[in-house]
Amino acid sequence: MTTNIATLETELTAAVETAADEAALEAVRVAALGKKGSVSELLKGLGGMSPEERQLAGPAINGLKVRLTDLIAARKAVLAEAALDARLMAERVDVTLPARPRLKGSVHPVMQVFEEVQAIFADMGFAVAEGPDIEDDFHNFTALNFPEKHPARDMHDTFFFNEKEDGSRMLLRTHTSPVQVRTMLSQKPPIRITAPGRTFRCDSDQTHTPMFHQIEGLVIEEGIHMGHLKGVLMEFMRAFFEVDDVEVRFRPHHFPFTEPSAEMDVRCDRSGGQIRIGTGSSWLEILGCGMVHPNVLRACGIDPDVHQGFAFGMGIDRLAMLKYGIPDLRDMFAADVRWIDHYGFTPTVQPNLATGLS
Ligand code: DAH
Repeated sequence: MTTNIATLETELTAAVETAADEAALEAVRVAALGKKGSVSELLKGLGGMSPEERQLAGPAINGLKVRLTDLIAARKAVLAEAALDARLMAERVDVTLPARPRLKGSVHPVMQVFEEVQAIFADMGFAVAEGPDIEDDFHNFTALNFPEKHPARDMHDTFFFNEKEDGSRMLLRTHTSPVQVRTMLSQKPPIRITAPGRTFRCDSDQTHTPMFHQIEGLVIEEGIHMGHLKGVLMEFMRAFFEVDDVEVRFRPHHFPFTEPSAEMDVRCDRSGGQIRIGTGSSWLEILGCGMVHPNVLRACGIDPDVHQGFAFGMGIDRLAMLKYGIPDLRDMFAADVRWIDHYGFTPTVQPNLATGLS
């Protein structure tokens, strides 16, 4: 009996030590300590022995069981560590390898232009403000001095949501101007912000998409006048189109939220089928602007006798088309990888005024 146990222990020890992986080790464990395992069978045999036999065999078999269990646990730890090492080696990634060209993403021209515009205005001390895409009538129209039932509201081709129980309807903001209202309601002057974002109108052709992008500008301080507006916008045009001199002109216009209101054009050259900004005999409409209407200031809790300000708004997609020669606006949002390969920008280069915008 004792020799049997000793032989079995030698065999089992060898089997445990040569088990090549965790699965092989588990097979050895089951064959020895499982329900019908060799050691379990020996333990079952104890019941049929005489007390004298049992006194000898009992501790021997139990000792074997304990030693074997410990041995298996130790071997298991070694094998688990080896398996992990092998996996780590196999899954190793060399982070110093250059990116594979096909995996490289690129920055959409609209996002590039947002970054460029923000870099220019940040340099002039403008913070960035944001507002929700889903707006209410108050922020999108009423506080901006659009009269109730005025046709100007329809001119915006607004996407409305279904009526709520109180009869009001939420809408997709038709311009970024509601962010002016939100900013004036939540901050005290002096205010100097731009508000970039998505805007929506029910309109679609070569130069209109139902979703498009605008950037709004707002400055509220004491003593602000149109000279400041003009200076800021001229500086912006010069920096954005990366030309030393840009001639601009302001045409009288109407917006409910500004008084006086103007549209700003830049001088350009349209000869040769291309638009070149800066010089030439043509004009190109770029943006709407004006002095913030006293009614808007009042609606936002600002005293127009103390604080004045200017505002402007422009289409980012149009700026991108102009600057980067993109012919059709709809292609911008068609998500065609060939288009983005052609017009996209390197993601690792952040536009800034020090090293150049684009
Ligand atoms: N919100 C106007 C639009 O979408 C653009 C605009 C014009 C914004 C004049 C302004 C502004 O802030 O002063 O057509």
